[in-house]
Amino acid sequence: MEDLEKLLAPWLKRVEELLFTTINDDQTEQHVNALCLQVIKAGGKRIRPKLCLLCGQLLPELISAKTDEENLCKCAAAVELLHTATLIHDDVIDKASTRRGQATLNETEGNHAAVLAGDYMLARNFLLMQDLKSFEVFRAAGETTASLVGGELNQLARQGDLTLSEDDYRQTIYCKTGALFSLAASIFAISKDAESRYIKALTTYGTQLGIAFQVTDDMLDYTSSESSLGKPVGEDLSDLRITLPLIYTRSALAGKEQDALTEAVSHNDFATVKDLIARTGALSRCESYAQQAAMQAIAALEVFADSPYRRALTELCQQVLKRRH
Ligand code: IPE
Ligand code: IPE
Ligand code: MG
Ligand code: MG
Repeated sequence: MEDLEKLLAPWLKRVEELLFTTINDDQTEQHVNALCLQVIKAGGKRIRPKLCLLCGQLLPELISAKTDEENLCKCAAAVELLHTATLIHDDVIDKASTRRGQATLNETEGNHAAVLAGDYMLARNFLLMQDLKSFEVFRAAGETTASLVGGELNQLARQGDLTLSEDDYRQTIYCKTGALFSLAASIFAISKDAESRYIKALTTYGTQLGIAFQVTDDMLDYTSSESSLGKPVGEDLSDLRITLPLIYTRSALAGKEQDALTEAVSHNDFATVKDLIARTGALSRCESYAQQAAMQAIAALEVFADSPYRRALTELCQQVLKRRH
């Protein structure tokens, strides 16, 4: 990860500036600017901008002028803003009290202000994306945003439904996470009208990495702690979000034990659910699932020539599988 950070340091610095200036551009909106900046300043892993910057440099012929470098940074800032806005809204929906190690906007300002701050961030993001002068980017970003909303709604519709299948789960995590990772990986190539085989490889890489990332996130919700994640654990269970650890646990149980799981889930009995998850070995099945997605992501990179960026993208897959926060 150190190499990856070194490789991207000057680019990330510019991306951070763009995050700030995009939000702060309209000085008449001081209050909402401050709310948005509070969430941006709290940090986060910035995995989507890193992904965007690395993918953008897989095709050096696309970066021939200073404006291309600047536009790549704008793409990276745009995906981070889209992500952050959805997190602000997600925390309202999930009634989450902490995020990135600090109180959420819904917690400190209330749901109304949080929803509006998320909307404002989306609106400012459109203004940033306009600089890329690409209708195709708007189309892709529109599709991704629609997909995110669809994923969240799907999740809501199946709340508490333990019969959720592995395929249904995959569809939901593709929509809520895979689609945005796919956009992050391909947005710059799309803006430069790159060859479709390259765009296809980038969307596959991003989608599969996003799936691995969300499965890992869903495992961490049962295995990690609030102090290392910077957000509460056990939230998926308390919100009755059925994720892969539960799907695999249920499929490994029968009769009374399956009833015990249903009972524990409906009563938000975190300790019993964790115990059943551990007894069935569901987590190692989840790990294999994430690994398989990461392998597919790596395979998609084969169309690109070997480079430090391609190697860093392979490394990023390993980091996602191993992440602890
Ligand atoms: C959180 O994303 C939402 C998921 C898709 C699990 P991140 O884990 O990337 O959040 P930050 O940006 O680092 O806070
Ligand atoms: C991911 O879902 C959020 C979005 C993609 C909008 P989660 O609800 O699992 O994410 P966390 O756990 O709150 O970060
Ligand atoms: Mg959430
Ligand atoms: Mg989660």
